[in-house]
Amino acid sequence: MKLVGLWAIGFLASLLQTLSDRFAVTSEESESVATSLLQTELQRLRSPKFATRADVCTDTVPVTGSARGLPAIGYIACCSPEDVKPANVRPGVARYLAAGGRRVVTAPCYGNEHAVGQGLRDSGVPREHIWVTTALDPPDEALQNPRHWAAGQVDASLHRLNVSYVDDMYLHWGLENEYKTKISLANVTKEQYVELGEQYLELYRGLIDAQRAGKVRHIGVGVHTQKEIEYLMNATGVKPDIMHGWITPFMPEKQLSFAKWAMNQGMTLSAWGPYNWDSLDEPAELESHRSITSELAKKYGATASQIVARWYLDKGIAMCTSMLEPSYVKDDLHCLRSSLSAEDTALLESVKWDCQKTDFFQPLPGCSED
Ligand SMILES: *[C@@H]1O[C@H](CO)[C@@H](O)[C@H](O)[C@H]1NC(C)=O
Ligand SMILES: *[C@@H]1O[C@H](CO)[C@@H](O)[C@H](O)[C@H]1NC(C)=O
Ligand SMILES: *[C@@H]1O[C@H](CO)[C@@H](O)[C@H](O)[C@H]1NC(C)=O
Repeated sequence: MKLVGLWAIGFLASLLQTLSDRFAVTSEESESVATSLLQTELQRLRSPKFATRADVCTDTVPVTGSARGLPAIGYIACCSPEDVKPANVRPGVARYLAAGGRRVVTAPCYGNEHAVGQGLRDSGVPREHIWVTTALDPPDEALQNPRHWAAGQVDASLHRLNVSYVDDMYLHWGLENEYKTKISLANVTKEQYVELGEQYLELYRGLIDAQRAGKVRHIGVGVHTQKEIEYLMNATGVKPDIMHGWITPFMPEKQLSFAKWAMNQGMTLSAWGPYNWDSLDEPAELESHRSITSELAKKYGATASQIVARWYLDKGIAMCTSMLEPSYVKDDLHCLRSSLSAEDTALLESVKWDCQKTDFFQPLPGCSED
């Protein structure tokens, strides 16, 4: 039975690959053929034979003002060229949702909001059961009317996703991170920096407008420093409901403290990049991380990625990762039911990166602030 199942999943993967390629064809006719083939496969996925629903992770993390909570194990349509490709994202999202996943994360700069929206509809899962996240991508240049511009961006995202509201939308990054990482901003004067900072505030106000208009249920921030978040909160009196960022068990203590600060303010944490360490580690770190996660995996009767996923659940942090590969959906969505012990959590966190490294790749602010 198991072998058949595996074979069928392999077959499904290759079929979906074919479908993916077909989605790339612009002809409407072949697109509708591909869509109906995908529908048939999704029906199979939903059938009791495929669905091992009992151990699908339905955990959620509380969000201020939401009865529902943020699904703990999300699918982010990012970040490799394959991960963001609309032709891959459409069936990827549908497959993840059909398998029981309930949270999809995109952003205008990924160029796949339209495909995400198609995947939502293909899955047949009712809209109200899905948590949809997208972002407002702040531009580097000065805008005439940033607040108005933000309103247009919100509408454009809703249009591309073909939904009447998103569950959360966040200011994708703060100015300090842009300033540190973008060569184009290397020479801005102090005055220009302050002006751009005010522009970010206007964009945040635009998100608040969208929330009041019912187009965005919750607003958030991503890659902002504590000072920047305080600035937004102090100026508007509105706290972001969700803080997005790169958070892993291997972050320096300073960054984890920053994440704790946000939690203490009442923000829900949404982490991306749970498995990035696999490619970012130095050889010695990689060896340690691999040996620790596989030791724990053996102990808990889980996979190494389920051990890392469990860390987020234990901390009350939602996470999202690309689940383009059917095997990732299977692995990541089926989480470990028991918590890691305090000792094992400490072991998992024991090999840390230094601040330099995390600042360089993609900072969760915290290191640079003293
Ligand atoms: C948008 O969604 C509706 C169903 O909610 C569907 O009928 C329509 O075809 C979709 N539009 C596009 C452009 O995909
Ligand atoms: C910034 O200024 C330096 C020194 O004047 C110059 O070499 C560099 O090209 C400038 N960078 C940009 C992005 O304008
Ligand atoms: C925001 O307000 C708090 C409380 O008044 C203050 O401690 C903090 O320094 C302010 N932060 C910023 C960045 O304005």
